[in-house]
Amino acid sequence: MEITGFRRILVTGGAGFIGSNFVRYLFEQGAHEVVVLDKLTYAGNIANLADLADQPGFRFVQGDIADPSAVAAAMDGCDAIINFAAETHVDRSLLESAAFIRTNVHGTHVLLETALHTGVSRFVQVSTDEVYGEVLAGRSRESDPLRPRNPYAASKASGDLLALAYHASYGLPVMVTRGANTYGPYQHPEKFIPLSVTNLLEGRSIPVYGDGRQQRDWLHVRDHCRAIAFVLARGEPGQVYNIGAGNHRPNLEVARAIVRLLGLTEEWIQHVTDRPGHDRRYAVDSSRIESLGWAPEIPFEAGLAETVRWYEAHRDWWVPLKAGQFADYYHRNYGSRVVLSGGSET
Ligand code: NAD
Ligand code: TYD
Repeated sequence: MEITGFRRILVTGGAGFIGSNFVRYLFEQGAHEVVVLDKLTYAGNIANLADLADQPGFRFVQGDIADPSAVAAAMDGCDAIINFAAETHVDRSLLESAAFIRTNVHGTHVLLETALHTGVSRFVQVSTDEVYGEVLAGRSRESDPLRPRNPYAASKASGDLLALAYHASYGLPVMVTRGANTYGPYQHPEKFIPLSVTNLLEGRSIPVYGDGRQQRDWLHVRDHCRAIAFVLARGEPGQVYNIGAGNHRPNLEVARAIVRLLGLTEEWIQHVTDRPGHDRRYAVDSSRIESLGWAPEIPFEAGLAETVRWYEAHRDWWVPLKAGQFADYYHRNYGSRVVLSGGSET
């Protein structure tokens, strides 16, 4: 998807997992100027953009999307905005949700207000399939009601609806994407797939919540970035686009595949107490974005194998992320979980 029609694109949260992959993708597709605005929370990492340091047209600004003056300065001269900036981890939202409301709701509002006054031709709000809540059968369509069931999903649903309201009320050219669980290089090791891979590489087991039969639809980050670029270039203002890959797998199956890819046995999988309010399944109908010409390209088995190799080869990237404050979080989140079967507590 060629991206040449914009003068300057603002990418918020561009030092995070999907955002950094997206910035790289934008330049590959011919973008001229890209400004990244990122607060660099524990999840933001300037190292994710290190290879772009000398890229002509690239500028990094450290700042908070909830700070109107930082947003106004970063948005100056931009004709398109893609908002990735968010607090993103469900487990953290269950421990402490204030930052989720501040960034995902209030921060989105500041971006929308500023965009309204600046005037932009496209505003893409990156939302999630979790806003639909759990879907035990069938697939969510964009018109389905939102029934988020954890603080993260509720804060994303709020940002998503605010963005749509700014289109309905003021004609702001907003498009919302609702993507599935994403995996690939540069994902923070707190999330299930990188946590599993890096735990095994550190000699720890994989903590599978509950029975491990919860299903997620795994979307490779490159497919997710391509989909957002399709929406940016071809989407219709006021419209919502689901992005799924059709790779539904129970968590236990994913854990088994990772163990196998690292040449280990299932003894390294440990069932621990379930997450409260754990959604059993998400599934979206992606026919609307497919009608724009997008389709997922990376098969899950190949994408997972490539991702495992990436974490094996990039210990210098993730080892520091699992030290310091993360170690405290890990202890808080997992230390209280009772082992249900097999192995010893991590
Ligand atoms: P991430 O946690 O890796 O990155 C989030 C980034 O936002 C970080 O760089 C962080 O520093 C930045 N940030 C946080 N608060 C900020 C603030 N107040 N101001 C400026 N920057 C701030 O997240 P991700 O997995 O890359 O997700 C990106 C977006 O995609 C999020 O909006 C998320 O809800 C959405 N999404 C993620 C997935 C997934 O599976 N990862 C799936 C669907 C949708
Ligand atoms: P996660 O990567 O946190 O994404 P989300 O909660 O947004 O779907 O988790 C993916 C799935 O893996 C989810 O069903 C919860 C489960 N999970 C575990 O079983 N163990 C873990 O340690 C983590 C982090 C997640």
